Amino acid sequence: MTAEKTATLEELKAALLESYREEFPNDEPTICAFAPGRVNLIGEHVDYNDGFVFPMAIPVGTMIVGKALNEPTTTKCYVRTLSKDVGEQKSIEIDLANELAPIKSPKWANYVLGVLAHFLERVKPSKKQPFRILIATSVPIGGGLSSSASVEVAMCTFLELLYGNSLSSNQQLSKVDKALLCCKAEQTYANVPCGIMDQYTSCLAKADHALLIDCRDNTSQYIPMINKNVCVLVTNSNVKHELGAGTYAERVHNCQVAANLLGHKKLREVTSLKELENARDKMSPTTYKRARHAITEIQRTEIAAEALSKNDYAEFGRLMYESHQSLRDDFEVSCEELDQLVELARSVDGVYGSRMTGGGFGGCTVTLVAKSSVGKCIETMKNGYKEKCQQFHPRNDSDDDDTQIQICFSYLSSSKFPLQIYQKALIGMSCGCVFVAVISLFLTQSLDIQSSFYKIRCSKRTVDYLLISNILTGM
Ligand code: GLA
Repeated sequence: MTAEKTATLEELKAALLESYREEFPNDEPTICAFAPGRVNLIGEHVDYNDGFVFPMAIPVGTMIVGKALNEPTTTKCYVRTLSKDVGEQKSIEIDLANELAPIKSPKWANYVLGVLAHFLERVKPSKKQPFRILIATSVPIGGGLSSSASVEVAMCTFLELLYGNSLSSNQQLSKVDKALLCCKAEQTYANVPCGIMDQYTSCLAKADHALLIDCRDNTSQYIPMINKNVCVLVTNSNVKHELGAGTYAERVHNCQVAANLLGHKKLREVTSLKELENARDKMSPTTYKRARHAITEIQRTEIAAEALSKNDYAEFGRLMYESHQSLRDDFEVSCEELDQLVELARSVDGVYGSRMTGGGFGGCTVTLVAKSSVGKCIETMKNGYKEKCQQFHPRNDSDDDDTQIQICFSYLSSSKFPLQIYQKALIGMSCGCVFVAVISLFLTQSLDIQSSFYKIRCSKRTVDYLLISNILTGM
């Protein structure tokens, strides 16, 4: 396979340090913060319905290095991203003396601004602390793996470290408060009416566990994932989604309309499908379908978490397929490429289940697969997807050189490897360095895969896929 690795955490850190030293010679950053992306195993589009979701952290994320600026007269902060995928403008200046409003461009800066603005609501104006930071991420942008939440949570962690002891105990954030603050930043500055899942997972997930989150009261339960013979495989269709584009908000609205028509605050309160059936005449066919997805998905997620805790992978997998079908037919947030990847996975012996993951309209699928079948599953997805690409888009052979699928492995295993390594790696930095890592597991040797994400080149159709996704979702 032609492979291109995405950065490991050590590589992210090295790139950040190198850039920092290049840009600010004779200076060293003193703070390093990290927050992981996530993959949602099941429970899609139900967090904003107060439902259950079942995600886990993945070993890609966002890292920020930086330091406080203590020149007495300055109120200005400097923020730069190393990401290649965010458009032209890579840096911004933020003046803490001004009001911190969302900006039109560059869009990525709103995640930083939003978290900063909401964080500063807790800090006395006289105590505002200027800083400079560099940001790097290994989460594919727009892939449904929480690229934005990981920036928000890393930023919030950076600020917690920046303010450190100067915050009184009632100014400090619990992990749930931190998730809520970051979620609010996304809603108010990125204009996405999202639920709490992504930020919550980035703040609270821990190694070797998936997290069953009850989004009604923001409590959660860790479900151990310690079977070394079972893997979670994340496959990126490279169809890019953009949640801000309105389709997500439309789904949130549809669900709220259904809940109101049924006389509830949120769809979580609907206890049976019968209740929905009885009120079918009151709502449009679309509202009915959206509600049916949310109500059944909440039920599926509770049952699935129970099945996983009993190592019943067959049952878990069955529910994953059901979830995908419901997202595809009732919620209409899948696309042909995602459906194709799910069907390809389903055709492989040893695959328990597969589904689209995240907001949809492109992005990734997640597959639960026996370790012994991982190779076969990747091969099948790679070859089948390539064939399908060609059906969607007849093309010249000379185009055959671009990335189409990215694959990320997570063993359900109890290895502590990543956490230990990265904590050590950071001790080398100057004082005040703290590393916050929540790592689920990865590593696979047999397939020559050393990194968490693995890009497979098969067809130069990235741009066309963007167009297709627009057509399919009517964005
Ligand atoms: C996005 C949102 C989440 C959640 C998922 C769909 O990732 O940020 O809050 O709604 O979509 O499950």
